[in-house]
Amino acid sequence: MVEDTRLSGAQLDAQDEQVWAAYPGEDPPTFEAAVARHQQLPAEKRFAEVIESADRVLTQPRAGVPQLDDQIELLRTLTEDGDADLLPVTIDSYTRNNEYEKAREGLERSRETGEDELNGFPAVNHGVEGCRRLIDETDRPVQVRHGTPDARLLAAVTFAGGFQSFEGGPITYNLPYTSRYGLEETIEHWQYVDRLAGAYTERGITINREPFGPLTGTLVPPSIAIAICIVEGLLAATQGVRSVTLGYGQVGNVVQDVAALRAMRELGESYLPDEVTVTTVFHQWMGGFPTDRARANGVIGLGALTAGIARPDKIITKSPQEAQGVPTASANAAGLRTTDQLLTMCEAQSLGLEGVERERELIARSVESLLDAVFEAGDGDVASGVVRAFDRGLLDVPFPPSEAAAGDVLPARDDDGRVRLLRFGNLAIEEAVKQRHRARLDDRGTTERRDPSFRMVADDVSAVSDGRLIGRPEGDR
Ligand code: 5AD
Repeated sequence: MVEDTRLSGAQLDAQDEQVWAAYPGEDPPTFEAAVARHQQLPAEKRFAEVIESADRVLTQPRAGVPQLDDQIELLRTLTEDGDADLLPVTIDSYTRNNEYEKAREGLERSRETGEDELNGFPAVNHGVEGCRRLIDETDRPVQVRHGTPDARLLAAVTFAGGFQSFEGGPITYNLPYTSRYGLEETIEHWQYVDRLAGAYTERGITINREPFGPLTGTLVPPSIAIAICIVEGLLAATQGVRSVTLGYGQVGNVVQDVAALRAMRELGESYLPDEVTVTTVFHQWMGGFPTDRARANGVIGLGALTAGIARPDKIITKSPQEAQGVPTASANAAGLRTTDQLLTMCEAQSLGLEGVERERELIARSVESLLDAVFEAGDGDVASGVVRAFDRGLLDVPFPPSEAAAGDVLPARDDDGRVRLLRFGNLAIEEAVKQRHRARLDDRGTTERRDPSFRMVADDVSAVSDGRLIGRPEGDR
């Protein structure tokens, strides 16, 4: 069974060799040469330094196109027209599936046709040199954002190429994305990624790591998302990571979202070792968006307002074209500006909300019992503990595409639009907390004159894209 222990130097070297064997480029640089490169980066491009020292909410979009020059140009547009504080490269699906040959073909076709034949940036095929050029020609910190269950080569290439922040983790990039890997396997893959980040960190190059908090993006109860991100933070810390950005996806009820962001920061700071600097990221709505761009801007605005109140360190923005797929550069910049306008207008005010404290306590209590179950299942070891906890359904997520989670929990919104659980499966939550979920869902049942059931869940899943928050039979009004 996998264990939460630090990979030795020899283990890292052995894996390194195996990982680089799949590299389609020329000979990779030595670790020393890569470190020397990082040392030349100016302060304003050092990801961890920028996010950890920010005194306001930083904005960051998603963005990825196949060709290197186009990617550089896209990032320039997002900086100039969207004033993005932090930049991304969003990786294409072939690379996410380790299909580098198909990524190469797509890149080739894009060059021939002038069309984007991949849905993101194939960083492995662009190689260390391509990544370097991108970092050189961009003047803000850039992060690798992807969705790759086995991201070892992607990490090795992008770290060597000068990237200092890397999204994902063994659970958050397994459960929502794949049924190909068991959790033990992805934990082992990510121990390499985190150990490599740790090795750079020990050389004075802090690599920031960011668990993907939104998970499936569909009605994920905050406590589950937070517990999973903390587990990933702990696993990363063991391997020497010292900069962790915990993530959380907007559920749409402002009180619950603000409470969750506060709980996440506090719990993150208390569970992660002192030597780890914890920051937080809020993702604007990850579920289905309205096709109407005016309405999409409303969803974006609500996310920005929430961040304006809760003040996470960073917000990941959406564009008004979200429902149409990969956005144009100008739509992407528009999402950034809408967000920036709201954040700036909120900054000047002190915004208090009733009920946040009570909701925060409820979330914190649930996170604590979920994490207790993990530690107990592993006899103190968080790696084997999380595998066993998922196996037994003590930790679970709704609607997992992966077989690594039982998927026995069923969420639904309560009468106020907060995400509760209708079915708990075997989830390690106290009875008293379950009662509160049930009572809140019964209130909704009374309002809607129907028993809480799977119908509510189905109605909730499409509610936001239909122009409302709660999937009521007769609309929210
Ligand atoms: N460029 C911009 N956004 C992207 N997304 C996925 N790929 C790209 C890309 N290449 C976004 C989707 C969705 C989220 C999961 O990632 O639009 O918002």
